[in-house]
Amino acid sequence: MTAQLIDGNALARQVRADVADRVQALKARGIEPHLAIILVGEDPASEVYVKHKVNDSSQTGLKATLERYPTTMTEADLLARVHALNDDASVHGILVQLPLPAHMDAHKVIEAISPAKDVDGFHVQSAGALMTGLPGFWSCTPYGCIKLLESTGIDLRGKNAVVIGRSNNVGKPMALMLLQKNATVTMCHSATKDLKAHTLQADVIVAAVGRRNVLTADMVKPGAVVVDVGMNRVPEGEPNAGKLCGDVDFDGVKEVASWITPVPGGVGPMTRAMLLVNTLQAAEAASA
Ligand code: GUN
Repeated sequence: MTAQLIDGNALARQVRADVADRVQALKARGIEPHLAIILVGEDPASEVYVKHKVNDSSQTGLKATLERYPTTMTEADLLARVHALNDDASVHGILVQLPLPAHMDAHKVIEAISPAKDVDGFHVQSAGALMTGLPGFWSCTPYGCIKLLESTGIDLRGKNAVVIGRSNNVGKPMALMLLQKNATVTMCHSATKDLKAHTLQADVIVAAVGRRNVLTADMVKPGAVVVDVGMNRVPEGEPNAGKLCGDVDFDGVKEVASWITPVPGGVGPMTRAMLLVNTLQAAEAASA
């Protein structure tokens, strides 16, 4: 079997078009949805991510303001800036790009963001709301994965879903979102004894480890749906060195799965799209 591609770029375009319509509706009521992005330091990957977020925002008519600060910024100054943005009624969403410089406590900074403006969905209140099924912002990457899965037409109810990876921002919220969609969820991680025994039972697999070839064809049940959150590079000395790749051995797994996300062009664009959705949701809630 050759899997069908779940096209994250195409789905993200649809999401952005919907966001653009809703932005216009808000603007017609005199409200300009506004995302404030804080970037501290000069991490090259962060620079790229932030540039994409600003471009995506302006494409949909959503206002994004980028605030750049030097690595020497103190944590106290950053916290003061976050508090000022919390108090600024013209700002609906606040995103502090991670990683922060080593002298800052990222948890402390994220917890300083008002939960009503936590469009990353990283605040403990957002995480708690997801866990209890209360309204709140969903972390953008797993939220995007849910949309990608739903775009295949698969009904997640009663499906066996395996999440590989247990990070706070992807693996754990992914498992909770799948649970909320009534899947039977198994979380696998570095201490899992026999990963393959679990993945072979899975109708849905989400790989979010950050390591190449975590999932190979022999580990996948024929017809499973595979979502690849990984973003890695092929190391020097191997064919296609330097090329972007996910956690999944795409060429092998696509022969077994029914649907699969590519890297790039799968989860990445949807993560960014869901940030816009969350920002819009924040603006709509603030103006309700
Ligand atoms: N760094 C890498 N990805 C992200 C993200 O989604 N949000 C934030 N705030 N920082 C990141």
